[in-house]
Amino acid sequence: MTEEIISGSNVISLLLLAQEEALSLIKDTSKSVEELKLLLMGSKSDLARLTKQISRVPKEERQQVGVIVSQVKQSIEQGLEARAASHPGQKTKNTTFLDITMPGERPPNGNLHLVTQAIMEITRIFERIGFTRVRHPEVDWDWYPFESLNMPTNHPARDEWETFFLEYPGKPGKDPHKQKMVLTPHTSNGQVREMEKGELPIRMINIAKCYRRQIDVSHTPMFHQFEGLYVDRNVSIGNLKGVFDHFVKQFFGASRVTRLRPFHFQFTEPSFEVDINCGICLGTSKLEDGSTCKLCKAGWLELGGAGMVHPVVLRNGGIDPDVYSGFAFGWGIERTSMMKSGTKLDDIRLLYSNDVRFLQQF
Ligand code: PHE
Repeated sequence: MTEEIISGSNVISLLLLAQEEALSLIKDTSKSVEELKLLLMGSKSDLARLTKQISRVPKEERQQVGVIVSQVKQSIEQGLEARAASHPGQKTKNTTFLDITMPGERPPNGNLHLVTQAIMEITRIFERIGFTRVRHPEVDWDWYPFESLNMPTNHPARDEWETFFLEYPGKPGKDPHKQKMVLTPHTSNGQVREMEKGELPIRMINIAKCYRRQIDVSHTPMFHQFEGLYVDRNVSIGNLKGVFDHFVKQFFGASRVTRLRPFHFQFTEPSFEVDINCGICLGTSKLEDGSTCKLCKAGWLELGGAGMVHPVVLRNGGIDPDVYSGFAFGWGIERTSMMKSGTKLDDIRLLYSNDVRFLQQF
C-alpha cells in the first residue's frame, strides 16, 4: 500500500509550529526538565511524529526537511539545557545537563548540643583543681540513691525525688542492698559507689542523666546533674566555699552571684541550697516589657544542694568519719547552663524538642 504523498513545505511549517510551541512550553516551570524532555522529544512528541513524515515527502524535498528537523531538535535541546541551568534544583538524568561550573551544595554543619558543651566545660573547670570525672550507673539499686544516703526505706524524704521504679528482670538475690531498681533521680548515688572503690582522698565529679516524674517550663523528666564529692582528712566548709568560688568565677563570670541558704538533706550535715541570680531578669524578676519573669522565683534560681557529708554516709562507704570528712554538692547541668550570660532560654523543654532551628543557635 503506497502512502499519500505530502509536500515538504507543509511538513516544514508544521515543524516550525511545533518548535514555537515547544519553546513556550519550556518556560512552564511547573513541569520538570525530565517531563518536558519526554513530552517534546519523546517517541510520542510532535517532533517524532513529524520526523516520520519525511518518508512521505517527495525525494527531492527530503534533504531540506531533514535540515529543518535537526534545527528544530537542536533548538529544543538548547531550550531544555538553559532551563536545567536556571533551575538547578530540578534533577535531570541526562548528564549533558550537568553544569560543572555550578557551586556545590554544602552539607549542613553539625554542632555539639548545648548540654554536651556545658558538660565539657564543667568537667574542664573541675579538672583544673584536681577533680576527676567519673561515671556511675544511671539505672541503679535503690540502696545507692536512697538507703546508703541515710534515707531508710519508707522515709518521707524519698518522696522529694519523684522516682521512677523499675521491675527487676528475674528474681533479685539475697543481698539486701540489691532488691529494687530505679532510674537514678540524682547523681548522689555515686557518693557511696565512689567510696566503695577504697581509694582516698576522693575528688570526683560525677556527671550523669537523672530522671524524675516532673515536667514544666523549668523541669524535664530526664535531665543531667554534676555531683562533686571531696573526701580527705580535715575537709571543711571553707574548702566547699573555695571550690564554689572557683567554679562560679570560671563558668559564669564576675557579674553573677550565688548565695547559700540553710537547708536539709538526709545525707549532709550541715546542708545548704545554692542559688544564683536569674540570667533572664538579672535578679529583678521583671522583664523589659513589664511582665513578670517566667523562669525564676523573685530573681533567684536554685542551682542545687550541697553540704558536708553525713557521718552515716561515710560509714556506709567504709570510711571512718572520725578520721575523714568531706563535702558534696549536686547541681543540674541544664539549669546551670541556662544561668550563664547570653543564654536566654525561658523554657527548659526546648533543649530536648530537637528542633534544629533552635539547636543550631548554640
Ligand atoms: N542530690 C541532691 C538533689 O538532687 C543534691 C545534693 C547533692 C545535696 C549533694 C547535697 C549534697 O537535690
